[in-house]
Amino acid sequence: MTRGGIRIAPSLLSANMAELGAEARRAKESGADWLHIDVFDGHFAPNLSFGPQTVADLRSWSDIFFDVHLMLARPMDHIERFAKAGADLITVHVEAEGDVTATLAAVRELGCRVGVSLMPGTPAEMATAHLEQVDLVLPMTVRPGFSGQKFMPEVLGTITEIAEAVEERDLPVDIQADGGVSRDTIPALVKAGVNVFVAGSAAYGAPDLGEAIAELRETATDARRELG
Ligand code: DX5
Ligand code: ZN
Repeated sequence: MTRGGIRIAPSLLSANMAELGAEARRAKESGADWLHIDVFDGHFAPNLSFGPQTVADLRSWSDIFFDVHLMLARPMDHIERFAKAGADLITVHVEAEGDVTATLAAVRELGCRVGVSLMPGTPAEMATAHLEQVDLVLPMTVRPGFSGQKFMPEVLGTITEIAEAVEERDLPVDIQADGGVSRDTIPALVKAGVNVFVAGSAAYGAPDLGEAIAELRETATDARRELG
């Protein structure tokens, strides 16, 4: 298991896109720890979402921790603008173009926390090769692009491998899950070693955001307690 505390990160992709500022503020007021901001370029993943100016403008609405997940074919071309816009954490994919080590180093150099992400099916070693360089690993539990997809349980093995490597090397690395996270899937994710939970449909899609976040947190906390 990772040493990191449980964190709940609603995904802005499931919020009302015409009211992003208010939605970011609502996340913090509803008890969220982080705000997960998915950035697509239509190439790496088949959707478009937010740009660096969106992140910069959101900063005047909330001081919540901005967890920026870049699903871009060429992340190196954009990280500086996202860092300057106020991203706290920038996560990039190992499958993207460019040298991963150099991209992660550039994120660090820009003063942000550093995350590395894997698509479903990408071997754990592609992330564990970078563990000493990052603060967070994100093995995706759906193919990126859209909220509301079905959780892929086959990723649990990859998560377990990553968590074991983090524990063996005694590193302060968070493990995040993104895609199909809900009260149903959290217990297995906790068991595999996840401590940061991104929730789109299960958070912004719920009738009461505050209640949903509290329930997700309670489910994760209970599951962790059961592990002893
Ligand atoms: C998927 C995104 C997720 C998405 C999660 O490409 O990276 O952050 O918003 O949505 P749910 O929780 O509905 O699967
Ligand atoms: Zn994401």
